[in-house]
Amino acid sequence: RTGLVSGIRPTGELHIGNYYGALKGLVELQERYDARYFIADVHSLTTHPKPDGLRGLVVETARNYLAAGLDPERCTLYAQSSVAAEVCELHAYLSMVMPLGELLRVPTFKDKAKRHPDNVNYGLVGYPVLMAADIFLVRTELVMVGEDQLVHLEVARAIARRFNQLYGDLLPEPQPLVGNAARIPSLSGQGKMSKSDDPAACIGLGDDERTVEEKTRRALSDPLRAYRHQPGHPTEDGCNVFRLHTFFTGEAEREEIAASCCEARIGCIDCKKRLAERLSGIVEPFRRRKGSIGEADALDALRLGRDKAKEAAGRTIADVRRAIGLQML
Ligand code: TYM
Repeated sequence: RTGLVSGIRPTGELHIGNYYGALKGLVELQERYDARYFIADVHSLTTHPKPDGLRGLVVETARNYLAAGLDPERCTLYAQSSVAAEVCELHAYLSMVMPLGELLRVPTFKDKAKRHPDNVNYGLVGYPVLMAADIFLVRTELVMVGEDQLVHLEVARAIARRFNQLYGDLLPEPQPLVGNAARIPSLSGQGKMSKSDDPAACIGLGDDERTVEEKTRRALSDPLRAYRHQPGHPTEDGCNVFRLHTFFTGEAEREEIAASCCEARIGCIDCKKRLAERLSGIVEPFRRRKGSIGEADALDALRLGRDKAKEAAGRTIADVRRAIGLQML
């Protein structure tokens, strides 16, 4: 079976963007591919350098994966830190073939550096290189990511080409498999939904119905529609709430909402209520499933995955060392 890898950072509770862009597709993919899913806990140190609670976050993320329907017997589910020695070693080798200038131009780096100028660390620049190491460690042909990660995948592909040129064909150039060609916008209308940027503008997969409704009620809608009796602008660019409907509400209902909005028969509050219902329709069942998965289940799954991942990682490292001429004495 064709190999596939995907990762997610343990930044705490996942949000509906992660669900839509990644989790949703994973279950189906584990049936079709030799799937490896990992929790990028080493990556998370670039922005969340807090030892307290990291283990808990990893367990939490594993529970999320399991709640989404992953079967640890069918796929390989592991923590990145379970292969930390291997992934960091590979990262070092890959870093030598990656020009710094290109990394400094990666938009996600520039964006993070701008937003958190107090923590522009070396690891942040190397983030896509570490990501490439994740991919090449298991040497899969496919990488499942949301659209926001495609630039990082381009870096990985560039690294594979340079590495292979220097050392012979060893690393398969990975192809992206975009979970859902969408970037779920934040409720505030400011960029993509991201918990670290603005938790209030982000629907968490653990949010209860009331929280979903409250957050949605405060979402940015149509800035040109100041009063209920005015017609709105239900287009993707005209109204952030309508844009969110395009992801979560079926076409027929959406058209009906748009028509009512244009004729001012429906106000923003009603429209947001209906969006909140759709969002809860995803979050609630997820929350229920997660409630039945305990820490022990998550740890069992991660230990099983660790053993499988270590085996593959060991083989890659041996091949890479040989190819680059590092004879271990
Ligand atoms: P992370 O943890 O930010 O996100 C996990 C997955 O969710 C997708 N995603 C979204 N999709 C649509 N709309 C959004 N608003 C949204 N926010 C997040 C992401 O595209 C991702 O698929 N660098 C990665 C983790 C990683 C990785 C890897 C992935 C590390 N090494 C190797 C694949 C292969 C990240 O930070 O994802």
